Amino acid sequence: MKRNKVLVGNWKMHKLAVDAKHFSQDSRELVALAKKHQVLLGVAPTYLSLQVTKENNPELLVLSQNVYFEDKGAFTGEISWPMLEEIHVDGALIGHSERRTYFNETSLACHKKIAKMLSLDRYALYCVGETLSEFQAGLTKEVIRKQISEGLQGLSTNNFHKLIIAYEPVWSIGTGINASAEIAQDICKFIREELANLFSKDLSDRLPILYGGSVKPNNIAEYLSLSDVDGALVGGASLEIHSFKELLQAII
Ligand code: PGA
Repeated sequence: MKRNKVLVGNWKMHKLAVDAKHFSQDSRELVALAKKHQVLLGVAPTYLSLQVTKENNPELLVLSQNVYFEDKGAFTGEISWPMLEEIHVDGALIGHSERRTYFNETSLACHKKIAKMLSLDRYALYCVGETLSEFQAGLTKEVIRKQISEGLQGLSTNNFHKLIIAYEPVWSIGTGINASAEIAQDICKFIREELANLFSKDLSDRLPILYGGSVKPNNIAEYLSLSDVDGALVGGASLEIHSFKELLQAII
C-alpha cells in the first residue's frame, strides 16, 4: 500500500522566536517542493515559537511538542488545545521519550491527549520506543505493545487519518547510534500488526509510521526505502534549514 511520506523536525528546546521566524521564512520553498512530491512537511517548535513559525509559513505543518488534555482550569504551567488552536497550530507531538523520561508522562496520559487531538480532527504524532536497558533485555516488542495499546486502545477510529506513529528507540535519540534498517523495519512492521490487531488491517495499512533517532541527510533515504517506514521524526538534523532541505531532498 502506498502511503504519503512524512518529515517532521522536532526542535525540542532550541531556537529563539527570531530564529524560528527566519527558518520558517526560508522553508516556504521547501513546502512547495514537499507538496509536489506528496510529502507532509512539518516542524515542532517550542510553545513560544509556534505562532511566528505558522505566521511566516502557513503551509508548513506546525505541531506543538505537548498539549494538556483539559481545556482550561487550575493546571499551572500547562497549555491547552484551545490556546494552541487560537494561533493555528495543526496538532501535537505526544509521548516523546524526553517527556516520558524527564516529565513522567505515561501512556495513559498520552491516551487522553491523543483522544483530544483526534476528536477535534487535529494531528496527533504519537511517539513510542524502548530504552537501552529494555532493548538489551530483549523487551522491545513488549514495551511497544504496551505503549500502543495504552495510548490508543478504545479510541474512536473515525478521525484516525490524522494519527501518525513514530518509533523512536530511546537509545538512538541524539546519540548518533541510529537503529539498523532491520530493526527499524521489524519494529515498524510490528507496530502495524499491533494496530491491525487493535483496530483493522485496512486502518493499519493506511497509518503513517515514522522512524526517529539520529536520522541524518545521509541515512534518511535508507529508512524511507523500508516497506513499513513512511517518514522520519528528526531532532538535531532538522535545526538548520540547509540540513532540513537535504533531508527532504533525500526522500523525494
Ligand atoms: P535526534 O532526535 O534526531 O536528534 O536523534 C530525534 C527525536 O528526538 O525526535
